[in-house]
Amino acid sequence: KFKPRVFSGIQPSGGLTLGNYLGAIKRFVEMQDQGIETIYCMVDMHAITVWQDPDALKRQTRELAAGYLAAGLDPKKSILFNQSQVSAHAELGWVFNCVARMGWMNRMTQWKDKTSGKDAEKASLGLFAYPSLMAADILLYHATHVPVGEDQKQHVELTRDIATKFNHDYKVDFFPITEPVIEGAATRVMSLRDGTKKMSKSDPSDASRINLTDDADTISKKIRKAKTDAEPLPDSFDALADRPEAKNLVNIYAALAGMTKDAVLAEYAGQGFGAFKPKLADLAVESLSPISTEMARLMQAPDEIDAILGQGADRADAIARPIMERTYDIVGM
Ligand code: ADP
Ligand code: NA
Repeated sequence: KFKPRVFSGIQPSGGLTLGNYLGAIKRFVEMQDQGIETIYCMVDMHAITVWQDPDALKRQTRELAAGYLAAGLDPKKSILFNQSQVSAHAELGWVFNCVARMGWMNRMTQWKDKTSGKDAEKASLGLFAYPSLMAADILLYHATHVPVGEDQKQHVELTRDIATKFNHDYKVDFFPITEPVIEGAATRVMSLRDGTKKMSKSDPSDASRINLTDDADTISKKIRKAKTDAEPLPDSFDALADRPEAKNLVNIYAALAGMTKDAVLAEYAGQGFGAFKPKLADLAVESLSPISTEMARLMQAPDEIDAILGQGADRADAIARPIMERTYDIVGM
């Protein structure tokens, strides 16, 4: 009934990290090149669930678009646009706010992590309802597959719950039950300063992450200073179970080189981080510098970016509007 269609988005709430690249964008490009219909969004309406300086938000949105394009998303093969340019996201988000239950939102681990105790009282209502808007983003296109990192798995499950409840309450088979696609070598890239925390653009420590805009020296320095232990590398990935920092660096290497983790360890077994880190730094610089160079070029050509996003928004709206109209009809509006 539902033809394969891929949707995913990233928040323009800061610069892109290596985690976003390996966990999300690299997969976006692979799916685009498999010939499936692909729709990728800058979710600026999600970004404002926490305070964003308006000028910074505009810059970050363009920078995210530049990152998508520089990493290989092709506007001829994928639809690229800003969420706020297609008003049906907000419209369907409201309908879903009336389908989803408070208890479902309360159980979201990201909500619990971002707000503990008294902080919840000060969080925006939008932050609480965020997963309902995310469900709208996905279901507005009847997307069947959503490539995401592991941290988003629970939100995609909630999207399935919302689709199921809507279909059940209104006795229709209108929204698909979307599958998360959590694949690839690095669905969970960790902080370079603490192997138990995920690498994130919102981490206050810049040394904890590699930004796609970092220059070669900065990338090398961050990798050389990454937290590790003094043990040599073992010959199998399983043997790294209790060494989260070591595990993370091997994982990053494997993802960037397109090798299995065991193949990486077969090459470096017995060597320490003094030998491994410079190799990883070279590999990271070699993989990321074409992207950062192209991002820098695109950032000098904001009109080029805006034209691509404007056309993308028109194409997205052409799919979304009929689905929104049909939703209103089902609901009785
Ligand atoms: P961030 O957490 O950096 O603010 P977003 O919440 O906008 O990023 O997530 C954008 C995409 O990047 C999502 O698919 C998310 O799962 C993925 N992602 C974010 N951080 C990581 C990470 N450290 N490892 C793997 N994937 C990640
Ligand atoms: Na996230």
